[in-house]
Amino acid sequence: MADAVYPVPADWAENALITAPVYEERYRMSIEQPDAFWREEAARIDWIRPFTRVSEASFHEADFGIKWFADGTLNLAANCLDRHLEERGDQVAILWEADSPDAASRAITYGELHEMVCRFANLLKAQGVRKGERVTLYLPMVPEAAVAMLACARIGAIHSVVFAGFSPEALAGRIQDCDSRIVVTADEGLRGGKKVPLKANVDAALGHNCEAVDTVIVLKHTGADVPMTQGRDIDWAMGVAAQSADCPAEEMGAEDPLFILYTSGSTGKPKGVLHTTGGYAVWAAMTFQYVFDYRPGQIYWCAADVGWVTGHSYVVYAPLMTGATTVMFEGVPTWPDASRFWQIVDKFGVEIFYGAPTALRALMREGDEWVTRTSRKSLRLLGSVGEPINPEAWEWYHRVVGEGRCPIVDTWWQTETGACMMTPLPGAHALKPGSAAKPMFGVRPLLLDNEGQVIEGAGEGCLVIDRSWPGQMRTVWGDHERFFQTYFTTFKGLYFTGDGCKRDEDGYYWITGRIDDVINVSGHRMGTAEVESALVAHPKVAEAAVVGMPHAVKGQGIYAFVTTNVEVEPDEQLRRDLVQWVRREIGPIATPDIIQFTPALPKTRSGKIMRRILRKIGENDLSNLGDISTLADPQVVEHLVAGRPQLA
Ligand code: WTA
Repeated sequence: MADAVYPVPADWAENALITAPVYEERYRMSIEQPDAFWREEAARIDWIRPFTRVSEASFHEADFGIKWFADGTLNLAANCLDRHLEERGDQVAILWEADSPDAASRAITYGELHEMVCRFANLLKAQGVRKGERVTLYLPMVPEAAVAMLACARIGAIHSVVFAGFSPEALAGRIQDCDSRIVVTADEGLRGGKKVPLKANVDAALGHNCEAVDTVIVLKHTGADVPMTQGRDIDWAMGVAAQSADCPAEEMGAEDPLFILYTSGSTGKPKGVLHTTGGYAVWAAMTFQYVFDYRPGQIYWCAADVGWVTGHSYVVYAPLMTGATTVMFEGVPTWPDASRFWQIVDKFGVEIFYGAPTALRALMREGDEWVTRTSRKSLRLLGSVGEPINPEAWEWYHRVVGEGRCPIVDTWWQTETGACMMTPLPGAHALKPGSAAKPMFGVRPLLLDNEGQVIEGAGEGCLVIDRSWPGQMRTVWGDHERFFQTYFTTFKGLYFTGDGCKRDEDGYYWITGRIDDVINVSGHRMGTAEVESALVAHPKVAEAAVVGMPHAVKGQGIYAFVTTNVEVEPDEQLRRDLVQWVRREIGPIATPDIIQFTPALPKTRSGKIMRRILRKIGENDLSNLGDISTLADPQVVEHLVAGRPQLA
């Protein structure tokens, strides 16, 4: 099965926007004549003032910097809305499905969305929000999340969306880091029939050194009775009712910031990844059109949350720039039952479905029946994103969900890259289950060995990208030096992805997963250091080390080794307390799967924790612990192996 190859179906090979010969020709042009290539592709955006310069980028320390289309101006919200009004003002822009199948869905046209965005933009302006100011959004998966993002883009404010599953502590950290004085939230969110107390979380977050916040806009979603703070909290509906539906779009420079999105790295606290306007717009819109072979009028559904980059690029910005109908779903794949996704596909006639392997694995476990009892005849293309998809899940997706007729685009990319970097294009590339196939236009992937030597032909190594692309992040908010250090110093002059990768004889790329201390839990990216610092913040914990472990549904689970303070006797109660503690510090997505108490961690004589050994124990690969002779106390390893609990 690992060697399976699915050729491009005949109708795709003939009719796709990008067929095999077109891919070869365009890819070559994108590498050999990048300026000419990007001038053509940038024409898909409405520029206010056309750019004359294309790319000015260097990954080298002496002249480090990244700029695209720098002297051009545009407004991204106008590209998502105003430009469509004449031709498709009455076409549905957002199709929204509620958490509960019994609740009414919503269909919002481009005309209506335009008006909602203008009113909300005016409300922000009435609160004194200015160009360049940061606005924190902490919202459920409702159309208003897109409205708030677009309203920021319209007036040139920088949005920072914080995933609604994050705890008050995590939210507070993100509000402080970008000096945001305004937060937009809802009374509650709903997921799988459970309420998420968003407003209460905001109130709690604002108690944590967020004195700068003077305004909270609250959307009534469930209608729960939430306390409102006089003089600070504004009801969304009342606020916008007083505003005009006319709001001119601010003229933004291509390199003006569009958004900050916090993401986890190997060290320290999450980084504020900053994306700017012009390059991001071109990159997101271009990849959307080619990867999904998008044609006007098609119903498209990306099942990601707006709290992650996939939601930014492929739920909101790219589909709307392209004039698509984009589906937003508030709920979860397995509630009320495991047919939910496919019922929505049938209800809306979804043609293109883009989801995460973790959801597919969870559904696969429930059996084919939940899928096969639905029709899915509208589906023509499937996508996968966020983590490696194992061949078994891929085959199931292809055979059961897509009935063998829908190509699967397995798209590899990162928060930092803005949009898809490597993927098969459905009309151009035969599919190999588990492979992200080929680079997107303009992307030059290289594989390096541990000495930093380029691996030619087939092989496996560290994945780096050798030149800039338009949607690349521009900096870490407030810490440009950290940006340079994190991504461009491991291998000088190259962008280091943090991923390992294989290239086969056909030049297909296979992502093997992170090679740094980042783990991918249910498609949610997490730094082991973040979980460790949450654990050591507990008064009874002395030390903690966290590694990833294989997990059948989540892809990776969280395995924590914990040393308690000497006077503490670790027990079941403490284990439960620590799980709750981490959930409170970060959020439920960081729930440890295993906590192993240990009297000591394996350390070198210089006191460095040997994470390599802990990873092996996490993977239950005990025969292969490697050289442990440099440990200060090799006996520690025996204790760890003997004490390894099994996953329930
Ligand atoms: C992983 C999500 C294998 C990878 C868009 C990357 C993938 C990290 C794939 C970024 C894929 C994403 N195959 N691995 N198709 N897509 N990854 O920033 O390890 O949340 O570095 O962006 O997810 O996660 P992020």
